[in-house]
Parts: sequence; structure tokens; C-alpha cells
Amino acid sequence: MKYINEVDIREKRLLIRVDFNVPLDEHGNITDDVRIRSVLPTINHALDEHAKIILTSHMDRPGGQVVEKHRLTPVAKRLSRLLHKDVTMAPDCIGEKVKALIAKMQPGDIILLENLRFHPGEEKNDPEFAKQLAELADIYVNDAFAVTHRAHASVVGVTDYFKECVAGFLMKTEMDYFHRSMEDPARPLVAVIGGAKVSGKLTALENLLCKVDKMIIGGAMANTFLKSINWDVGKSKVEDDLLDTAKHLLMLAKEKGIKLYLPVDCVVADRPDPKAETKITTVQEIPSDWYVMDIGPATGTLFSEALQNAKTIIWNGPMGAFEMDAFSRGTMSMVRAIANSYALTIVGGGDTDVAVHRAGETSNISYISTGGGAFLELLEGKKLPGVAALERFNRNMED
Ligand code: 3PG
Repeated sequence: MKYINEVDIREKRLLIRVDFNVPLDEHGNITDDVRIRSVLPTINHALDEHAKIILTSHMDRPGGQVVEKHRLTPVAKRLSRLLHKDVTMAPDCIGEKVKALIAKMQPGDIILLENLRFHPGEEKNDPEFAKQLAELADIYVNDAFAVTHRAHASVVGVTDYFKECVAGFLMKTEMDYFHRSMEDPARPLVAVIGGAKVSGKLTALENLLCKVDKMIIGGAMANTFLKSINWDVGKSKVEDDLLDTAKHLLMLAKEKGIKLYLPVDCVVADRPDPKAETKITTVQEIPSDWYVMDIGPATGTLFSEALQNAKTIIWNGPMGAFEMDAFSRGTMSMVRAIANSYALTIVGGGDTDVAVHRAGETSNISYISTGGGAFLELLEGKKLPGVAALERFNRNMED
């Protein structure tokens, strides 16, 4: 891929695809602006080069129609505050009114286009919609790592209509860290995988088993693995249709000489509720009418010890139902173990970043990915459509 600093953007109109799909509270206030801050290096570079900056993003899933609560207005305000600069909110993302606004832009001006997903053409990767977006600018910049796994018009289709397509600095950072952790890692490489379901992470688990030296499995998905080797996990959620798959993965790890760690004890509750009665048991003694809600203290110690000699750690998914305080200790102990390690540490997806922020350990993690689904697809070994589109563009230019 070519990056924004490799092309002449001086006084040019840039269409920068960003992912400003940030969480809002019930009053429409942004509760986490990491995705906005993460693209400031690209925006600042464009400002330094006196480019005309046209930002475009989706917000949530309005389904191809205008939904008032999914307007990007709060994002324009936050961005303006972060940059100490006016950010003009456009009434739409395509059309004559938008073109008229852009025609009046001076070098260094910033416009934020309205939610791309108000148009059905965005998610359908409609060529006509992509063409209308491309008519707004001279150069396309993709700095929207978190949505690069979607083959949408502003991510993929648009690259057919520009004469110059590049990636931004956030894309570069994300891809570099991914490369350092998965393609060319310092070893031992340890993957820590948690979260609710094996099914959602099956491909990632299979792919990781070809790359890692150790794998640690926690969270509710560990129940399926424990049941597959005949432990009774009480009333906990288990994907019964995946018991054979789980067993197969355990065997695969053994064949490949990968050390695979499962919980040895857990926090169980008489119901999945923060006010439930709880106790700690070994996995051998889970009461048949109770629920596994978190890993136990012995497991926390075991997992921490397994991480001791790691040189690279990649983490996706919590160790238990950490959104309830009573069941958050396992995930918090994992955050601390990873934060205190001497390894290159990469965290992404499945609320794992939320756990790190909550534990106040953000600055002790080497890199926290801005991607959820996109990060998982990289773990699955997939080529992201947005990356493929930029690479294809460059190959075509070279030919
Ligand atoms: C995300 O939040 O993961 C990205 O913005 C992509 O959103 P989507 O899952 O609605 O495509």
C-alpha cells in the first residue's frame, strides 16, 4: 500500500474515509473518542500540507435511511474541540449541496460529511454511489481500519474512481503492529482468547493454532472446551454442536506442540446476575445447577505464569462476564498480567479494550487496536477488503 506521506497532497481535496462510529450515551454524548483521536495524525499531516480535508464516516447501522440519532453532529463538535479548529458539518455525504460547500473550501478547511449509511448504496458497494463520493475530491485516503473488513462503497468501490488512493497513518500503525505480532513475531508468541462463543472465533482459533507457541482460552467459550473433555460445567452456556470441534482443536494443539491452557478453577453463581450467590470451585467440582461466570484465582495465577516468558502477546476477548463487577476479577487479573509483562502486547476486539481502559492500564499495553470485527478478521488470516482494494489500485497503477 502507498501512504499519505508518499504523495503530493498540497492544496488538494482529500476524501479521508475514517471510522467515527463512536459510542454515544442516551443524551447523544460521546463516551469514548479514541477512534477520533486515532486519526488526528493523518488530519494534522493534511493540515500541515494545506490540503482541503473532507472526512467521511458511517455511524451505527441506520439501514440506508436517515435516522436522527445516528447523525455525525456530535463527532464534528468533538473533532473541532480536539483540533481547536472549525469543522463544518455537511448536510449529506453526496449531492449538489455538498459539492457547493466543497467548492467554497480554502486550503486547511475541514468538512465532515453526514453518515454514509443514510444511503443504501454504501453497504451495497453500489458503483453509482461510489462514483458520486469520488466526484467530491482529488485523492482518496483510507484511514478507517475498523471498517476495512466491510466491502462497502466508501471502502472498496470508491477506489475505482480516483486517480490516487492511499492509506493514512492509523492504517499504517494497525497493519505494522499486526505484522509484528502475527507475521514476524518475537517468540514465544502467546494468544489469549476469551469471550462468549467458540463459533464466533472458530476460524481465528484455527488460524492462530498455526502461528502461536501457546494459547490461553478463557471466558464463556472455555466452557465448551471443558465440556468437550467431559467436565460438567453446570448450567453454563455451551455450544453443544461444537463439542467435537473443540476436542479437535485441543488435539490439533497437542499435535503441533502448542501449549494450550484452559481454566482450572472458576467463579460460579447460582444465577447469571450481579446479586447472585457466588463461590469459587475447581473445574472438577462445578455444581450442576450453577453457572460459570469468570475464571478463578488459581487460573489467574496459572495464566499469568504462562505469560511470564512471552515476547509477544495478542489478546482478544474477556475472561468472564466482566461487565458485572462481581465477575470482573479474572479479566482484570489478565489485564494486569499482560500490562506487567515484558512482551510486545497487542489488544483488540470483543470489548477487550474496554477492560484495559477500565483497569487504567491503557498506557502499559503496546498497542490497542481500534478495530473490533476488522481485528478479528486479521486474526482469522483474512485479507481485509479495504486493504485489498488499495493494493489492487497500486498494482493497476504500476501496470
Ligand atoms: C465497528 O464498530 O466495528 C466498525 O465501525 C464497523 O461497524 P459495523 O460492524 O456496523 O460494520
